[in-house]
Amino acid sequence: MKILNLIFVFVCLLFISCGGPDKKKEITSKDKVAISPENLEKGAQLYRAKCMNCHMKTGKGISKFYPPLANSDYLEKNLEDAIYMVKFGSNKPIKVNGVKYNSLMPASGLTDKELVLVFNYILNSWGNQLGSINIEQVEAIKR
Ligand code: HEC
Repeated sequence: MKILNLIFVFVCLLFISCGGPDKKKEITSKDKVAISPENLEKGAQLYRAKCMNCHMKTGKGISKFYPPLANSDYLEKNLEDAIYMVKFGSNKPIKVNGVKYNSLMPASGLTDKELVLVFNYILNSWGNQLGSINIEQVEAIKR
């Protein structure tokens, strides 16, 4: 009887220690959710209206001034940071594909919902195959 109790306690502890501490989910785009063609098109429209002036039609950017979004190692590795930058604006120095950028990107003024659409567009355009993000991930990013 005692042994059974001990085993029970042990199993409980095991559960707690596995589910407990580092449960903080890092944001990644790897939890892939299929993006509908309508949503991709909405994202493309937002991109043309709000991003294309600087990042250019094919996401190539303008070397040394506006970083590329196509094939960007920054976007791939610092997705959370990238969303933060588009949400709130950025003028910190960053390095994209080995090139330094330190110009200003104004806050996009987009809603969280629109940010999901535009990011899912850039994550899946011009050869990018970087998965997708959802609204919870964008809402969780706060100043
Ligand atoms: C006024 C020009 C401008 C506009 C408009 C603009 N950006 Fe940027 N973007 C920049 C600059 C400059 C940086 C680098 C910022 C820095 O150095 O801190 C940047 C950086 C980024 C990055 C991270 C770096 C990279 O290349 O992966 C992403 C992602 C991004 N922008 C996405 C967008 C999206 C999406 C929009 C539209 C909603 C947008 N940008 C609109 C100028 C712009």
